Amino acid sequence: MATGIVLMGGPGDGVVVAETIDDIHAVDVSRSLLGFLNDSLPIGTLVCGRPVLGRLEDWRNRADSVRFIAALHKVKQMALRAKRVSSLGIPADRWATVAHPTARIARDVSVGAGTYIGPYAVVQPGAFLGAHVSIRAGANIGHDAVVEDFAYIGPNATLCGRAVMRFGSHLGPNAVILDRRTIGRFSVVGMCSAVTKDVDDRVICLGNPARKVGVTAKEGTGF
Ligand SMILES: CC(C)(COP(=O)(O)OP(=O)(O)OC[C@H]1O[C@@H](n2cnc3c(N)ncnc32)[C@H](O)[C@@H]1OP(=O)(O)O)[C@@H](O)C(=O)NCCC(=O)NCCS
Repeated sequence: MATGIVLMGGPGDGVVVAETIDDIHAVDVSRSLLGFLNDSLPIGTLVCGRPVLGRLEDWRNRADSVRFIAALHKVKQMALRAKRVSSLGIPADRWATVAHPTARIARDVSVGAGTYIGPYAVVQPGAFLGAHVSIRAGANIGHDAVVEDFAYIGPNATLCGRAVMRFGSHLGPNAVILDRRTIGRFSVVGMCSAVTKDVDDRVICLGNPARKVGVTAKEGTGF
């Protein structure tokens, strides 16, 4: 049966995921992008050629066959955004998992509902990916690594073996986490940083080796 996918988001993260769904459609016509749900753009606005169909709450008005994916990751704002997505009450079986055809995902990897895996990303054996995770182009998730719900792995970032990213944490582009190290809940690792020690919850760190430079707000700010 054909699966129409509706994207929660818009310009920014949304167009990245939209492009992947179009690439999937090119090899599997049963999956296609129908449009966007977005809380601020006028209904009917075109985003990469697809219309804004309604607000996030309008997911209830879509047909039962429609699946959703949220492209709403934003650095330092994941506490609020994860809460917003969870508050919609969408059942797990209505979320789409979207993996680019060029991504290499080991056979035994568990991938959660609503998770996105971009072009040329590699997910090694034994890794676990939770729900609503975003793994960007060229990222490498090491063997037996754990990526919890709402975590974000930037382009070309690397988790070495058994590294852990807790709920809502953010790994910037080209950053690396050493084997077995953990990034705490809602923490942010700056681009090109090298994490050599565990990072506590809600910490912003950067550099090589990564050092704490700040904290993320408890509920984030704005949406
Ligand atoms: C870590 C980060 C969140 C810090 O952002 P911020 O709190 O707004 O801080 P600023 O950009 O004001 O930078 C503060 C200082 O740290 C420096 N800095 C910022 N990021 C850095 C990094 N990754 N490595 C080294 N230094 C960095 C800045 O040059 C600045 O130095 P200064 O005080 O001497 O001028 C941000 O740099 C980052 O890496 N964000 C992730 C980007 C991302 O993932 N984007 C989406 C995917 S493409």
